[in-house]
Amino acid sequence: MAPTHHPHASVMLAEVSDALADLEEGVIVDGTVGMGGHSEALLRRTGAGVRLLALDRDPTAIAAAQARLAPFAGRVRFFHRGYEETPDVLREAGEACANRVLLDLGLSSAQLESDRGFSVRADAPLDMRFDSAGPGETAADVLRRVTEAELASRLAEIGQVPAARRLARTLKTRARAGRMRTMGEFREACHEVLGPRVRRMDSAILPAMVLRILVNRELDRLATFLAALPAVLAPGGKAAILCFHSGEDRLVKRAFRSLAATRGWAVPFAKGVKPGAAEVSTNPRARAARMRLIERCPDEEKA
Ligand SMILES: C[S@@+](CC[C@H](N)C(=O)[O-])C[C@H]1O[C@@H](n2cnc3c(N)ncnc32)[C@H](O)[C@@H]1O
Repeated sequence: MAPTHHPHASVMLAEVSDALADLEEGVIVDGTVGMGGHSEALLRRTGAGVRLLALDRDPTAIAAAQARLAPFAGRVRFFHRGYEETPDVLREAGEACANRVLLDLGLSSAQLESDRGFSVRADAPLDMRFDSAGPGETAADVLRRVTEAELASRLAEIGQVPAARRLARTLKTRARAGRMRTMGEFREACHEVLGPRVRRMDSAILPAMVLRILVNRELDRLATFLAALPAVLAPGGKAAILCFHSGEDRLVKRAFRSLAATRGWAVPFAKGVKPGAAEVSTNPRARAARMRLIERCPDEEKA
C-alpha cells in the first residue's frame, strides 16, 4: 500500500524516536499530537504493551491524528486538551504517571496552510486560535483588548521586533478604528512601520508569531506544564521538548536545569540537540528547532 501523504513533516523524527522509543511497557504522553507523525513513529518502535495518550488543543489535529493512528487504535487514546492539563488527563485515563513525554511546540504545516490566520502570506481573518472551536479570544480580539504599552513590550521581549513601540501604536490605532480584522491589514501595518523585510524575513512574521503566542497563552501553558513535570514523569522516565523560539527554549532550559540540580534527575545534552544539515535543507521549518531532553533516574533512593 502506498504511504498516505501527510502535509506536516515531523521535525527531528529520528532524534525523538531514538530518545523516547526504548520502552516495552508503560505510558507515552504526546502532548502535541498534531498530524500524529511522532506518535506513529513511537508506536511503531515500542512494544505492544505501550499505551499512548495523544493530546492537542486543535480539534482538527485530533481528527487527522485519529485517522493516521487508526492501525494502533487499541493502544491510543485521544484527548482534545492542552498539554498543561497532563496531570488531569493521566488521572482520567487511569494512569498513575507517564514513562515518556513529548512536546513538539509551535505550528503544524496544516495549521499554517489553513484559513485561520496563522500565515502572513494569506489574507485570512485574524483568528490564530489553536482551539478553533473554543471560547478563547481571537487575534483580532487580543489586538483590541491589550494596551499599547503591553503590546509594545511583548513585541520587543518575545519577538525582538524593532520599532516595537511605533508598531504597537499603529496596530492599536487601526484596531480601534476597526481596521485590524484580517492578516492582510496586519501585514500592511507591519510593512508600513518596519519596511517589507526584517532579518531577511517578511517583516510581519515576527509580530505575527508574538500575536499567536499571546492568543494561545503559549508561554503560560508551557510554564504550567514544566512545573507539573515532577508529578507527571515516572522514575526511569524521559521527557523531550522541541522548541522553535528562544522564549520557550529559555523556559525549558531553566526548568530542566533546576530539576537536574536536584537528586534523581539528569539532562544528557546540556545545550540540547539541533537537527542535522540534511533535515534543515529539506524542511526549512526545522531550522529553528532545538530538542531538550530530561531523564528521571530509575530509583531516586540510589541516585
Ligand atoms: C508542531 S505541531 C505537532 C506535530 C506533531 N508532532 C507531528 O509529528 O505531526 C504542534 C501542535 O501542538 C498543538 N498545541 C499547541 N499548543 C498546545 C497545547 N497547549 N496543548 C496541546 N496541544 C497544543 C497545536 O495545535 C499543533 O497541532
